[in-house]
Amino acid sequence: MRDNWLAPSILSADFAQLGLEVRNVLNAGADIVHFDVMDNHYVPNLTFGPTVCEALRRYGVEAPIDVHLMVSPVDRIIPDFASAGATYISFHPEASEHVDRTLQLIRSEGCKAGLAFNPATPLDYLDHILERVDMVLIMSVNPGFSNQSFIPSALQKLREARRRIDASGFDIRLEIDGGVKVENIRKVREAGADTFVAGSAIFSAVSETDPNCYDSVIREIRSQLAAADS
Ligand code: DX5
Ligand code: ZN
Repeated sequence: MRDNWLAPSILSADFAQLGLEVRNVLNAGADIVHFDVMDNHYVPNLTFGPTVCEALRRYGVEAPIDVHLMVSPVDRIIPDFASAGATYISFHPEASEHVDRTLQLIRSEGCKAGLAFNPATPLDYLDHILERVDMVLIMSVNPGFSNQSFIPSALQKLREARRRIDASGFDIRLEIDGGVKVENIRKVREAGADTFVAGSAIFSAVSETDPNCYDSVIREIRSQLAAADS
C-alpha cells in the first residue's frame, strides 16, 4: 500500500489567520492541505472558493492542495480552482450531471481527479470510470460540517474500495474524510486508507502561546499509523 498522507482540513482552522495556520500545520509534518468547499446548496453550509486557494498559493504554500467540492453544479467552478493552484479536485457524483465528463474536465485542466462518496452512496459509481480517477474519497460523516462522529460502516466501504483499487492496478489514492481522530485512525489505516483528512482532531490542538502546537497531535497520529503498519 502507498505511504500515509495526512491531510488537515482547514475547515477547522482559524480563518482570521488562515495562511499562518496552514504554514504551522505543514511545518508540523502534514502532507497535503484539505480544502472543503461548501455552497449552501449541495450542503447546508458555506465556506470558501478559488480566491482563498489562490491566496494560500500567493502566501507561499507549496504543498498539494486537495480541493473537496461539496457544490452543485460542479463543472463551472473547476477551471477556476485549477487556475487558483488546486492539485486534486474531488466532487460528489450526485452533484454532477455527467460524472465521466467532469472527471475528464479536471484532468484536462491539469489537476488530479477525485470522486467522493457520501455514507449512503454506493461504490457502483466506480464501475466504469476507474481509469479516470486519481483519488477515491470515502466520507465517514455526512458532508457539511466538521467535528461529527465517525460512521463505522465506512470501514467496510474502505475495504471494498481498497479491493477495487488494487484489482484495477491504477495509481489511485484512497482517502477517508470525517470524524478521524487519534483514537480511530489505526482502524482506518487497517481498512485500507492511505490519505487521512482530520479537521477538528488537529486544529483543536491550537494554543495561542505555542506556535508548534500541532507537532504533538501529528506525532500521535503518526505513531498510530506506524502501529497499524507494523
Ligand atoms: C465535512 C468535510 C470534512 C471535515 C472533517 O463535510 O468534508 O473535511 O472538515 O472534519 P472533522 O475531521 O472534524 O470531522
Ligand atoms: Zn472534506
